[in-house]
Amino acid sequence: MENEKFIIQGLEGQRAFEGKIPVRGAKNAVLKTFAASLLFGNEIRVDNVPFIQDIANMNELLRHLGVGVERIEEKSFVLNSPDAIGTDLCGDIAKSFRSSIVLTGPILAREGKVIFPHPGGCVIGERPIDIFLESFKKMGADIDMHDRQYVISADKLAGAEIVFKIPSVTATETLMMTATLVPGKTILHNVACEPEIVALADFLNTGGADISGAGSHTIVIKGRDSLLKSKEPYQTPPDRIEAGSFAILAAVCGKDIEITDCKPDHLRVFLRTFDNAGVNFETTENSIRIKMSPQLNAINVKTHEYPGIPTDLQSPLAVFLTQASGRSLIFETVFESRLDYLSELSRMGADVMICDPHRAFITGVTPLRGREIESPDLRAGLAFIIAALVAKGESIVHNIHNIDRGYENIEERLQMVGADIKRI
Ligand code: EPZ
Repeated sequence: MENEKFIIQGLEGQRAFEGKIPVRGAKNAVLKTFAASLLFGNEIRVDNVPFIQDIANMNELLRHLGVGVERIEEKSFVLNSPDAIGTDLCGDIAKSFRSSIVLTGPILAREGKVIFPHPGGCVIGERPIDIFLESFKKMGADIDMHDRQYVISADKLAGAEIVFKIPSVTATETLMMTATLVPGKTILHNVACEPEIVALADFLNTGGADISGAGSHTIVIKGRDSLLKSKEPYQTPPDRIEAGSFAILAAVCGKDIEITDCKPDHLRVFLRTFDNAGVNFETTENSIRIKMSPQLNAINVKTHEYPGIPTDLQSPLAVFLTQASGRSLIFETVFESRLDYLSELSRMGADVMICDPHRAFITGVTPLRGREIESPDLRAGLAFIIAALVAKGESIVHNIHNIDRGYENIEERLQMVGADIKRI
């Protein structure tokens, strides 16, 4: 709810948390799979779905298009797309989260038309959609604008060779889904290779799509002229951003914490950086265990597309750097305005020097002070929770609907390792 907040008592820099903390299914995977239900001629089942606000928004949009969405078990949904679907994305909901954009490709491929507003989501940069629009055009669509809505239409779409100017994650997923139902061969160059893209391609292929190259920078899709048939349920992969954020929390607040139900292989470069920083950890195939480290050392963090350090871990890492000894550089290379939260962190006592919109120095170790803070976006919101848990005294985190967008019952899972956090 809009006016809920977290009240958090900090540890004053002690490392006291112990126990296990499980990771949920990946938000940024499951949202795209729900959108992919539009490509299927039968019911699809999606497992390991996190219970978060972005999923609720996606379900509302899908229902508005005519899709049957049913939660059959705690973490499982079935989705059933009818023979004819709507072409108009409901403006208010679509504007509230970025993933609404991924619906546009499947709708266009099926119905030859789609109308939608500019998608919303976290305010972390300009977030244009030119790659989507240019790619739809290359496939034969006309682009128009009416009443601040995009109107994309096509009598006939055809496979095309498309070069992305930037390896955009959602554009890769959207165009991969579009091309699945567009006759002919589509080759997408300079695409993103995040694990969630591979999971989506694998799922579409089990339903009869012909997609190769997902996980590399070139994807080839041979289009089909009818809908796919789902054969197996989709298993949502673990959320690597949640796992990485919990690992950061464990490093700065933990005595001995095991992060379970995750895939450390999806965090290789991040964990390599952790190693350089002196974090005491070990991994198995599906867990990360972090024990108290004698000292955390300054490191330089440069965000990058996968497999580099994810931009979504940049703000929790900044909190980590306040507790690491020496001067660290953060270099945000993916988004334009993703350092704004740092001014709030410095008000909590962090020694931060912002050099330009992409770079900042953080010098540690600094004690943090509890404060009243607004959660500016999903990832920085969790970073503030971690900062509040490190700090001395009480903090109040407002705007937690931003955090609920992506983390299921975050307070309950943090309480499991000993955190003093309450939702009011
Ligand atoms: C996805 O956003 C994620 N969101 C983001 O997670 C994540 O931070 C981001 O990828 C990078 O990993 C979802 O999957 C729903 P991009 P996306 O398009 O796809 C530029 C979270 O907290 N660009 O890969 O929107 C863009 O401005 C969110 O879960 C264009 O120029 O990111 C950015 O600089 C936040 N034109 C760069 O590409 C376009 O048409 C990469 O963004 C599209 C993007």
